[in-house]
Amino acid sequence: MSKCSSGTCGSKKASGCGSADAAVAQQNTAIAASLDRIKNKILVMSGKGGVGKSTVSVNLALGLAGKGYKVGLMDVDLHGPDIVRMLGMPGRMDGELTKDGKMPPLQYNDKLKVISLESMMENRDDPVIWRGPLKNQAIRQFIADVAWGDLDYLVIDAPPGTGDEPMTVAHTIKDAKALVVTTPQNIALADVRKSINFCKHVSMKIVGIVENMSGFICPHCDKQVDIFKTGGGEQLAREFSVPFLGRIPVDPRVVIAGDDGKPYLSSGGTSPAIQAFESFLAKVEKELPVQTVAISIPMARAESSCGCGTGPCNPNTCDC
Ligand SMILES: Nc1ncnc2c1ncn2[C@@H]1O[C@H](COP(=O)(O)OP(=O)(O)OP(=O)(O)O)[C@@H](O)[C@H]1O
Ligand SMILES: [Mg+2]
Ligand SMILES: [Zn+2]
Repeated sequence: MSKCSSGTCGSKKASGCGSADAAVAQQNTAIAASLDRIKNKILVMSGKGGVGKSTVSVNLALGLAGKGYKVGLMDVDLHGPDIVRMLGMPGRMDGELTKDGKMPPLQYNDKLKVISLESMMENRDDPVIWRGPLKNQAIRQFIADVAWGDLDYLVIDAPPGTGDEPMTVAHTIKDAKALVVTTPQNIALADVRKSINFCKHVSMKIVGIVENMSGFICPHCDKQVDIFKTGGGEQLAREFSVPFLGRIPVDPRVVIAGDDGKPYLSSGGTSPAIQAFESFLAKVEKELPVQTVAISIPMARAESSCGCGTGPCNPNTCDC
């Protein structure tokens, strides 16, 4: 068989044709170009399931967008994507490709772009039966092939644990920072230690720890009842010398809002849970400020002129 030197034969074999390598290199370039336009990448993770990662991701993304930032929300929980349901976005991603061949993400509003495998599937109830390499490829494509444009923040919602998805994010997005979600119970705190050790292992910086479901807000009187011991997240943050981003109480309205696809933070209320989300947002903003590009304002000229060409003169009084 003759050797293909042009790289166009479509062979996936590394030997004899450089096309597979070339495709990877091309994708790497596309990933780097996409990431270059995103200022902050936040991986929302936790060693444990059901602690509120997706709830935190959705409300964080929405809150930052509400402050006027350009935000992307990427759901890398490929087996159990929840994001588009929580945002009440039943649409499918089937828009026309952009001029440079990229897929337009779903648009929640003019500040928030969203991508999830769920919105690409024919049938949302079909299970995703993928192993590591396919998941890795899907996440790489989410970055390389999606028209994210310029973003201040990309929030990435991970599945529980430290498996393929967070590992791929860590390898692909070198400057991603982890936001670790925990609940106050000891068992959850033990899992958080694993997440923190994972971050150390892959050299991922940690934005901080947030303690979700910390105390219960009575729907009748808005008073807080500490049904579990609270404060474990803060203690853990101290132990590992990472920022503590606050406590978010259990509020039944958070569940209803998630189920109804109307995120709680968008309800405009002033309950303790909303206040807690807002102070959490402010802490994330403080930890990951968006550097504003310095605008160079022309210095006032030492010698002004009306432009008459006769040299310095007072523009207000010159009658030349
Ligand atoms: N502060 C809160 N108050 C009340 N309910 C909450 C709160 N945070 C999350 N929940 C509810 O807990 C459930 C689990 O939350 P969520 O899906 O965000 O967790 P998760 O960590 O993303 O789960 P998974 O590991 O399955 O991805 C949801 O029904 C959600 O509405
Ligand atoms: Mg989730
Ligand atoms: Zn009460």
